[in-house]
Amino acid sequence: MTNLEFIYGSDVGLEKRWGLETVTVAVVIGILGDREGDRKMGTEHLIPEKGYTVHATLRNLDDVSKVSLLKNLPDSDDRLVLFEADFYNPGKFDPAIEGCEFVFHVATPFLHTPNSQQYKNTTEAAIAGAKSIAEACHKSGTVRRLIYTASVVAASPLKDGSGFKDSMDETCWTPLDIPLACSTDLLKDYVDSKTLAEKEILSYGNYNEKSGLEVVSLACGLVGGNSLPPFTPTSVACFVSQLTNSANLYNSLRFFEKLLGKIPIVHIDDVCDAHIFCMESPSINGRFLCSSSYVSSAQIASYYQQHYPEFEVKQEYLDLLEREIGWSSTKLSEEGFAYKYDSKMILDDCIRCARKWGGL
Ligand SMILES: NC(=O)c1ccc[n+]([C@@H]2O[C@H](COP(=O)([O-])OP(=O)(O)OC[C@H]3O[C@@H](n4cnc5c(N)ncnc54)[C@H](OP(=O)(O)O)[C@@H]3O)[C@@H](O)[C@H]2O)c1
Repeated sequence: MTNLEFIYGSDVGLEKRWGLETVTVAVVIGILGDREGDRKMGTEHLIPEKGYTVHATLRNLDDVSKVSLLKNLPDSDDRLVLFEADFYNPGKFDPAIEGCEFVFHVATPFLHTPNSQQYKNTTEAAIAGAKSIAEACHKSGTVRRLIYTASVVAASPLKDGSGFKDSMDETCWTPLDIPLACSTDLLKDYVDSKTLAEKEILSYGNYNEKSGLEVVSLACGLVGGNSLPPFTPTSVACFVSQLTNSANLYNSLRFFEKLLGKIPIVHIDDVCDAHIFCMESPSINGRFLCSSSYVSSAQIASYYQQHYPEFEVKQEYLDLLEREIGWSSTKLSEEGFAYKYDSKMILDDCIRCARKWGGL
């Protein structure tokens, strides 16, 4: 029997498919519900046709809502083992990793734990977490592959000086410390922590030949689509911010656009499939961008205007100039991964999700 370690969560639903079609992994948080309103998830496909055992970590095992969701999954009594672990106490991940073959490192500290004596910000905590998880993988002697959920915010095509490269691909690394319009402390911390934690994780894959550990980072675009938890995830709320006219969320959408030239987007189901693909590949190592479309915020606004006339889309959203930057990331497709969702399907599912959970 194979053990999988899933280093926790996502309210966007990064867990849902891992729990549903192939591996039991990510059935953390409240991701069970129905998908696209017509098919009950979590019951018919659940836990592993493939016989995986999953170690999932939660920050708080006394959190009844999360624990009971996990424990109510079919077969979870036999195949799901929960561990308590927090980046602010990184050694705690070791017991969860022990004996596993694959480790999904999904979690990221978005908010700094106040009064932390150890770290001064989320960046330090994320790097220390990445390091300690990668080292535990090495020490385990059983982990074959570590798969890190990275973000395209670490792959900006911005040049160090000014302006953008012609295209965005895996060679792009976000130059830190460049002042950007629309940035906030929270967004800057997120970019710094995702960029530096991804570099840290990937450095462990450089020793691949010696240690045998493969390290994959999947730098995902803004994740849209329908979600299973009973609320509208923040990234979906960003997608529909031109309909809700939420200034903060629209600011985040514009920040991504200013940082990345346009906005790489991807459907949650493709994100989950890509993670599983990386686990099931016979051999894979290195950095992969994971996005099926690269669109401007004006293109998103225009799609809403054409297809959702019940909403009034402000002219200012439509009038923004677009940048001529290309998407030239093909690495994941060359490995054999095929996306199932285009930009229209992603946007339609965001609307559906936000409507379902009261976000629109
Ligand atoms: N959403 C997107 O558009 C997007 C795009 C690209 C990449 N990603 C990446 O995908 C991953 C999931 O993000 P998400 O958007 O789905 O957000 P999310 O639901 O807030 O996921 C963050 C997860 O990290 C856990 N976490 C936070 N602080 C932690 C700590 N100190 N120790 C241990 N775990 C901690 C959270 O646990 P709790 O449940 O206990 O809070 C939560 O499960 C992140 O790595 C993110 O960078 C997301």
